[in-house]
Amino acid sequence: MDAAVELKGKRFAVIGGAGLVGSHVVDALLNEPVEEVVVLDDFARGTRENLGEAARRERIRVVSASMAEPEVLRETLEGVDGVFLLASLWLTERLEDQRRAWSVNVLGTWNVIEACRDLGIRRVV
Ligand SMILES: NC(=O)c1ccc[n+]([C@@H]2O[C@H](COP(=O)([O-])OP(=O)(O)OC[C@H]3O[C@@H](n4cnc5c(N)ncnc54)[C@H](O)[C@@H]3O)[C@@H](O)[C@H]2O)c1
Repeated sequence: MDAAVELKGKRFAVIGGAGLVGSHVVDALLNEPVEEVVVLDDFARGTRENLGEAARRERIRVVSASMAEPEVLRETLEGVDGVFLLASLWLTERLEDQRRAWSVNVLGTWNVIEACRDLGIRRVV
């Protein structure tokens, strides 16, 4: 079986897409013939500056929300073909507020996987 993913005409979500790594994934996707890139980021650390020119391109939609909120997450992921999950709190943030760290890094990841399962999204990176 060919493991390559066809990008043409597909829609992808980048969770944490305004962060250091996520914003580069957004750029890379927009350089491909994808239909749309949806960025979901709560801007806890990420910035619009990280998105730079990408934020002004036509095939991008930026949703300012947390993956800790299952409803908005599900709405945002509806109709996407694949998800890149790059949102997390840093080690220092985890030590400062362990409950918040758990709710983002553990429950948030669970929310993403659960939403993808329920929406039939077969690709999660
Ligand atoms: N930067 C590195 O050198 C490096 C190396 C190896 C692995 N990683 C991993 O890659 C991932 C991304 O790292 P990064 O350096 O881009 O971090 P980053 O902090 O720059 O990006 C994370 C993004 O997630 C967002 N975010 C945080 N909580 C959120 C929430 N609840 N809902 C939605 N968005 C939320 C932040 O606002 C930020 O934009 C992390 O899992 C990190 O451990 C990073």
